[in-house]
Amino acid sequence: MGFVIAVDGPAASGKGTLSKRIAAHYGLAHLDTGLLYRAVARLLLDKSRALDDEQAAAAAAYALNLAYMDESRLRGAEMGEAASRVSVIPAVRAALLDRQRDFAAQEPGAVLDGRDIGTVVCPEAAVKLFVTASPEERARRRHRELVDRGDAPPYESVLADIRARDARDTGRASAPLRQAQDAILLDTTELDIDAALARAIAVVEEVRGASSLP
Ligand code: C5P
Repeated sequence: MGFVIAVDGPAASGKGTLSKRIAAHYGLAHLDTGLLYRAVARLLLDKSRALDDEQAAAAAAYALNLAYMDESRLRGAEMGEAASRVSVIPAVRAALLDRQRDFAAQEPGAVLDGRDIGTVVCPEAAVKLFVTASPEERARRRHRELVDRGDAPPYESVLADIRARDARDTGRASAPLRQAQDAILLDTTELDIDAALARAIAVVEEVRGASSLP
């Protein structure tokens, strides 16, 4: 197994951007595991199947090939919400587990971000980060992004969506969102992306001192 960096955290915590930057910094491959759950939801919606149709969802998860999917159709808050509904289905999680582990097994290592990377997918990861920020700050960032894209839902409704997604992701029975015991907490409420990246690199370097990364 290569050098795995597991990055978990709630919606809109900035973990995706941070993971991409960490991967680029170390020349490692990066997997945004939320995309897998989003893709399962997309396949169901495209076939007009219900998001809680467990059999159809599990079949979609097994058949999934991200290479054939248009990422622009997976992004957006609506697909995030749909993804969080299919992600409560244990058979979907089981179907996606090996794929994520195969990705993590590549040399010289990989960065995976999601909700359960440090707890379930890669419990042996060399570095585990739990990236978070207050719900209000996450809602402010998400709201700013939406306004920049020309869409302007009220801030209060963005905040309500974030709280609802947090509740679903932390409250589900199967692999709920939680900080692994050995994960380092990175609260970005007061940090911009460059400051968060500097902190993350400092954590990785500390671990690297005791192991090896090319
Ligand atoms: O990270 P992103 O917002 O794209 O994830 C969408 C949804 O997919 C999350 O709200 C969560 O319910 C689910 N997910 C998960 N486990 C992961 C990654 C995402 O359950 N490792």
